[in-house]
Amino acid sequence: MLDFIVPRHSVHYTFKEYKTIFDYIFFDKIPTSDDSFKTFVNEKLKKDTFYGLSLRVLFYHVVKYLKQNNKDKNEIILFPEYSFPALVNAAKEAGLKVYFYRVDNSLEADVSSVERLCKNLNPLAVVLSQHFGNTDKNSQKIKDLCETYKTTLLEDCAHAFANLITYGDITFYSFGTGKDIVACGGGMIAFDKVKCDALMSHLENIKKTPDKEIIVRYFKGFLPEIIFSSFPFYHLFVFPVFYVMSMINRKYLEKKMKEDDDGFSKTLYVMPQIMHRLLELNLSRSKKWWKKRKKLAKIYKEELKGTLLPSKTFLMAVIKLRDEESKYKIAQKLMKDFIDVRMDYIKFYLPHPLQEKLIYIPTHPFVNKKVLKRIVGILKKNKGLYEKTV
Ligand SMILES: Cc1ncc(COP(=O)(O)O)c(C=O)c1O
Repeated sequence: MLDFIVPRHSVHYTFKEYKTIFDYIFFDKIPTSDDSFKTFVNEKLKKDTFYGLSLRVLFYHVVKYLKQNNKDKNEIILFPEYSFPALVNAAKEAGLKVYFYRVDNSLEADVSSVERLCKNLNPLAVVLSQHFGNTDKNSQKIKDLCETYKTTLLEDCAHAFANLITYGDITFYSFGTGKDIVACGGGMIAFDKVKCDALMSHLENIKKTPDKEIIVRYFKGFLPEIIFSSFPFYHLFVFPVFYVMSMINRKYLEKKMKEDDDGFSKTLYVMPQIMHRLLELNLSRSKKWWKKRKKLAKIYKEELKGTLLPSKTFLMAVIKLRDEESKYKIAQKLMKDFIDVRMDYIKFYLPHPLQEKLIYIPTHPFVNKKVLKRIVGILKKNKGLYEKTV
């Protein structure tokens, strides 16, 4: 039952997961692991992994490590101009100068822009983002460029865990709320041990915070989320009270997100055992959800020919509207029908023209055929408002 009343746009938490957290906090019960998550990752990735409390903190420590160990490179990092702000902040905190390379109209990396910057700046690292509104179309070319210019490729796969895409020398995953698989926070890097031989011991030597402190800290921030954020979904919108709660929650979360992204913690919190357990508990359910999302995305693609941004990470489906006004018009029509649309995926570091045009339509497993038909119907009726993307 609880399983049902707390859906999220990505993976929701089950009664078993809440119980695990409560048992840990109030009864000091340390959960035992069945290693299913680690086995899954090791089999899929065949790389070394290191788990931290969030992607952004791992990112900070990795770029710091790179800076210390690549004295022949300039202290410069290249980001796509459409980037998650906390990572840019982390790079700056680590003392790097940030340059942005161009992305095209489908958010794909502009290869010539990356090449020009690599040639002129001799950067320490290049970041490649696999957002859910992004594609990996040029990833191989960026990887080749990084090899040519002997720079490290860092891949942000916060939204691409289900695909486990890997082009980076070091690939970053996140298990925070709203991701493919969640553990009430958390992050992981995957890397080639031979290429990054000293990285693991560097990370292991960084100060650790006691597990309990982490969980209590996270849980405090997480509690209002459990109460409120469970509700902004279409099948619960039918109850006006939930609708009001979801609005309050959104305001609250936006404020929290801003604080979180602006402020940046340098401490490395190694991921506690309980988070691994939450990942294990999430895993089998998530696998089913990934399949369902792909199916939904395929139907959207077929029904809304050429209007979806190409993507391999269908945590949501992204549509590019003609302009800002069209975006609000479409959003209004969908929301009136209790469809959970997202207007802004993240607050971007630079104001980007695309930001005003993108809208995110749901692919979560609670979108059944009936709802899908409604969404597609509304979008088809308003064809003039969106742009063809392919
Ligand atoms: C694209 C992208 N990169 C990185 C992150 C950071 O992940 P974490 O919250 O684990 O630091 C996020 C988080 O929302 C994200 O959306």
